[in-house]
Amino acid sequence: MIKFQNVIKKYNNADTALNGINLQINHGEFISLVGLSGAGKSTLLKLIIGEEQIDGGSILIDDIDISQVKKSDLPYLRRKIGMVFQDIKLLPKRTAFENIAFAMEVCGHSLEKIQEEVPKVLELVGLLHKRDSFPHEMSGGEKQRVAIARSLSHRPVLLLADEPTGNLDEVNAGEVLDLLLKINQLGTTVILATHAADLVNKIKKRVITIKEGKITMEQEKGKYKL
Ligand SMILES: Nc1ncnc2c1ncn2[C@@H]1O[C@H](COP(=O)(O)OP(=O)(O)O)[C@@H](O)[C@H]1O
Ligand SMILES: [Mg+2]
Repeated sequence: MIKFQNVIKKYNNADTALNGINLQINHGEFISLVGLSGAGKSTLLKLIIGEEQIDGGSILIDDIDISQVKKSDLPYLRRKIGMVFQDIKLLPKRTAFENIAFAMEVCGHSLEKIQEEVPKVLELVGLLHKRDSFPHEMSGGEKQRVAIARSLSHRPVLLLADEPTGNLDEVNAGEVLDLLLKINQLGTTVILATHAADLVNKIKKRVITIKEGKITMEQEKGKYKL
């Protein structure tokens, strides 16, 4: 599904954030991308969604070379991909339902489709009962699950989660992690970028360790130590 070949990324033509990344990710995998702050995790995810451009090598997504994708075609690529962040970014004055509905509206979905789809994704993340709650009425974990529901509303084949548990306590982080695993079981490829070793060790899926812009370790049912 995703193939990095000798990928190099430099910011400001100076600092090398990624230095010769080779990586293949297959459909249906759950990958934990781990490393210390500054290792290059977010950069790697940003290259996949075309938010940053590579300075060397190539990235293929389903055999499409993303450096050849026209800027105007990027939205089509991004629709195949969902993304969630540490910083949750729900609209504060809109309910859980409205937050998801708004994102779908922006993507051009019809009202019928929105009415049909929003309850489905809220159900999937276990929050249908919170459909009319505002962000300030939800826990951190619930807010992140709404954000995940929103990212799923256009049915992506790939979900990128960048430190999604970074601001959460252990219980909430566990709930978010369980949800990501469930989404993966339902068929979506998931890449979880995190520096939280304890979380990753629980999952026992493929772990890719990145250090100073290079992959330093790959383990199948990974235990991860920094
Ligand atoms: N927009 C940017 N401009 C300049 N340097 C950046 C930018 N974003 C990230 N970097 C640098 O690239 C390196 C990797 O950063 P990042 O991918 O954010 O790491 P991580 O997500 O693992 O913490 C770091 O040295 C960081 O300072
Ligand atoms: Mg980061």
